[in-house]
Amino acid sequence: MPGGALQRLPKGDVTTVLAVGSGKGGVGKSSITALLAGELARRGSSVGLLDADITGPSLPKLLGLHGPLSDHGEGIEPARTEGGMKVVSSQFLVEESTTPVIWRGPLVTRLIMQFFGGVNWGTLDYLLLDMPPGTSDVPLTVFQTVPLDGMVFVTTPQELSGLIVKKAMNMARELRIPLLGLVENMGTARCPHCGETFRLYGPSRGPALAQEFDTPFLGELPVDPNLSELADQGRIDTYRSPELTGVTDQLLRSLEEARSRTLTVLRPAGEAPTARAPPSGPPRP
Ligand SMILES: Nc1ncnc2c1ncn2[C@@H]1O[C@H](COP(=O)(O)OP(=O)(O)OP(=O)(O)O)[C@@H](O)[C@H]1O
Ligand SMILES: [Mg+2]
Repeated sequence: MPGGALQRLPKGDVTTVLAVGSGKGGVGKSSITALLAGELARRGSSVGLLDADITGPSLPKLLGLHGPLSDHGEGIEPARTEGGMKVVSSQFLVEESTTPVIWRGPLVTRLIMQFFGGVNWGTLDYLLLDMPPGTSDVPLTVFQTVPLDGMVFVTTPQELSGLIVKKAMNMARELRIPLLGLVENMGTARCPHCGETFRLYGPSRGPALAQEFDTPFLGELPVDPNLSELADQGRIDTYRSPELTGVTDQLLRSLEEARSRTLTVLRPAGEAPTARAPPSGPPRP
């Protein structure tokens, strides 16, 4: 499969474009996209969220947003969360949250491109894409047309989830998308009575899986009833936890490393390394 068959869209004033995916359904892609966005925003970054799950959008519910979107002839204006994150989703194009978007592949892929190129994202430190499950039309379009700086993968400790996430990681690798790391979600829970943490699906498989793909293991997020409650209230971006802090730190480190690897590749052979060490905080435009 050719990696650069289609022209990638220009990045505009967006510094970093990240996709969060898995291949597997229901493992927490949308939740983790919104959680990372919330954490990055709390650290002072300007953040946008593009819901690339056109036929199964979740971000509006998780963030308590609804349409319609406005367009005064100068591009689509994204919706905004209370915290100021900009969000675009196909959910904003239908009237009811239960109305299905029944579109064939070509229309879906065209909308993704419009969501990236035709929305007034303005200046953003990060634009995060919430990917749908599967490895067909939408991921292919995103990988070929959106100028991704990398992709974060989400899995659960079940063997089936591991198998499917491997397909998605192989696909991204084949299309030369930098793999920024793997998050294992919902593998542990805390007993509400004694506070002890226990494993729901047996041992963690995330670190071995990440190692197999030579990508960092970013950490684990436990099943947390507080998270579900905030999701139901449309305030998932306000969720905080030490585990989320750790995953975000690891992701930023991985992004810096991916950037410095690109700088090394771009530097002509024999040239002295003049590039400064990458900044330790979130990149600024
Ligand atoms: N760490 C967590 N703790 C508690 N609930 C969680 C956690 N992660 C995800 N969930 C819940 O699991 C369900 C699935 O999560 P989510 O919608 O984020 O998955 P997804 O991978 O995006 O699914 P889809 O493939 O349908 O897009 C949701 O109800 C969400 O609230
Ligand atoms: Mg989802």
